[in-house]
Amino acid sequence: MPTNQGAPFPAVVDSLSHDGRGVARVEGKVWFVDGALPGETAIVRPTKTRRSFSSGRVDKIIVRSKNRVQAPCQYFGTCGGCVLQHLEHSAQLDFKRRILLDALGKAGVGPVEVTNLIGTTPWGYRRKARLSVRLVPKKGGILVGFNERNSKRVTPLAECLVIDASVNFVLATLPSLLQGMSTPDRFPQIEIAVGDNATALVFQHLEPLTTGDTYRLEQFARKNNLLVYSQSSGSGPVEAIFPHEPVLLNYALPEFSVSIGFSPIDFIQVNGLVNQALVGMVIDWLDIGATDSVLDLFCGLGNFSIPAARWAKRVLGVDENPNLISRAHDNAHQNGISNAGFECRDLFSKDLAKWDPGQFSTVILDPPRSGALEVLNLIKGSVKPRILAYISCDPATLARDAGTLTKSGTYRLVKLGLADMFPHTAHVESVALFHRCEDTVG
Ligand SMILES: C[S@@+](CC[C@H](N)C(=O)[O-])C[C@H]1O[C@@H](n2cnc3c(N)ncnc32)[C@H](O)[C@@H]1O
Repeated sequence: MPTNQGAPFPAVVDSLSHDGRGVARVEGKVWFVDGALPGETAIVRPTKTRRSFSSGRVDKIIVRSKNRVQAPCQYFGTCGGCVLQHLEHSAQLDFKRRILLDALGKAGVGPVEVTNLIGTTPWGYRRKARLSVRLVPKKGGILVGFNERNSKRVTPLAECLVIDASVNFVLATLPSLLQGMSTPDRFPQIEIAVGDNATALVFQHLEPLTTGDTYRLEQFARKNNLLVYSQSSGSGPVEAIFPHEPVLLNYALPEFSVSIGFSPIDFIQVNGLVNQALVGMVIDWLDIGATDSVLDLFCGLGNFSIPAARWAKRVLGVDENPNLISRAHDNAHQNGISNAGFECRDLFSKDLAKWDPGQFSTVILDPPRSGALEVLNLIKGSVKPRILAYISCDPATLARDAGTLTKSGTYRLVKLGLADMFPHTAHVESVALFHRCEDTVG
């Protein structure tokens, strides 16, 4: 301990951790400091002490970073939704660039540089979110919001600056809506999904809804021009409350004259405008032509497969979620695409080696945070694409997988893009483009 156990102490912050906390080294020990920025000297109040590293939060800033800004959100510091609002937006991007390059460097990939940056407005961008609901009588009843940082407690939100405006304006009314339900403490979550054509709220409930509950939700939907659904026990199918036959949500990818339909619980990329640019960049980088065959692994609704099919000879999309695969089929059909097929398959399965998808000239990989290690042998061994785009939401697993692709000399990293998909959070979305080495000579 730098001073008396638990007493605040001064520290110089030299960097930011991957989760957006300031990192200080004091008497040989690493401290992760909530709210501190690199270059700052702060008085740190310890919150958790461990033998190898400890955590604390800023009590007072003594020397202030030139990149520090006043966080616009009234809940900043408590709400776990955003952790970087106190860092000027372009410095947030520098931080993300550094995290990405460091991860690749540690994995022995590189040296590389970020060649492309995609970003749009950093506010009101979130078209998908899951709000937590808790009944806390001593805090006034029902609380609706994101979880607090590192805690299951809920930060009650009357507004949210990063959420889409069509939801923001009803946030303050959600507690009183739920308070009037038959079992107000039995609605653990509200899922939000914003399409170009409508906004949907899905109320998860642990007890059957009464007629009165349904009526209340219907009035709420009518008044706020929303689609409202219920979902029992949090994992079952969704049921429409109002309208009884709602429109299918959709979002457009105008560059490709594509419209993607989705249900409110389907996976969609959080930031609609960044997604448009991301899909455009990936398809451009892959330079798909009329003789190309494209394998889109972790394809979801067909967000990349369907635009790719506009240029390719054929496309195969693969995902483990049967609902997404069925929707991808529908999306291809609705967009007049007949050269794209979709297949349901667990790409982390131990039996994957038995699968032979055949050769493809082009691969798109967009795995969850855990990465795509399991499919890399298949890609290198039998699929053998000339070009591969890897879309990643976790630099650590991207770096690991990029190491596996490049170390054997089979592929090389030729371009690296950073997408500002989640401004003010510490999440890093990136795209890495790989060429098969024999095709890159010269
Ligand atoms: C980051 S999302 C990408 C979806 C899509 N490419 C898009 O842009 O909307 C990751 C996808 O991986 C799928 N997935 C997760 N685990 C999987 C597994 N074991 N096998 C195959 N797909 C999986 C999810 O269903 C999800 O659609």
